[in-house]
Amino acid sequence: MLRRAQREDIARVLVNETCAYPVPWGKQALIDSLDPQYDFFVAELDEQIVGHLIVQVILDESHLLNLCLHPRYQGRGLGKQMMQYWLDSSRSQTIHQLLLEVRESNTKALKLYESMGFQKLSVRKNYYPLPDNQREHGVVMSQSFPEQPVGGCSLSQ
Ligand SMILES: CC(C)(COP(=O)(O)OP(=O)(O)OC[C@H]1O[C@@H](n2cnc3c(N)ncnc32)[C@H](O)[C@@H]1OP(=O)(O)O)[C@@H](O)C(=O)NCCC(=O)NCCS
Repeated sequence: MLRRAQREDIARVLVNETCAYPVPWGKQALIDSLDPQYDFFVAELDEQIVGHLIVQVILDESHLLNLCLHPRYQGRGLGKQMMQYWLDSSRSQTIHQLLLEVRESNTKALKLYESMGFQKLSVRKNYYPLPDNQREHGVVMSQSFPEQPVGGCSLSQ
């Protein structure tokens, strides 16, 4: 269902983004996210792009920058599957901490993240813009993976 995003996908991703968020990312921000320093995936269903997942890995931390589904495809378990993909692929790399930020009012996303083991770390006051020139707090959430023992010299062998 998930594959790497390409330049040709941006127009559709922008539509999904605009339909899903009160303050969506712009076209240039999405194009910039195709840079190899980011992991940008699109979710395909019914032969169309219905969502996207953008992640940035910095050393042993993985940051969720964007998780978005077109409203018509929300509430069907796809967000959870995309989160699970991020968790599983992070676990298979040398990632020790996952981080994300979410609008304080985004109950749906907060519930999803909590149900997947994320805990509130801090609050970023007035972090997110609102359409009417107001601001909204952001909740920073994290999840840690225990350090894996280094293999090869196990004493039990
Ligand atoms: C937030 C979002 C990614 C969740 O994806 P989704 O596919 O709609 O969610 P799922 O169907 O996978 O549901 C996963 C969990 O989210 C929560 N959830 C989903 N819909 C919900 C609702 N209407 N109210 C409260 N919680 C809800 C539940 O905990 C649910 O788990 P459960 O079904 O076991 O109870 C998606 O709704 C979305 O793209 N929203 C707009 C963009 C956005 O806000 N992105 C997050 C930015 S931080």
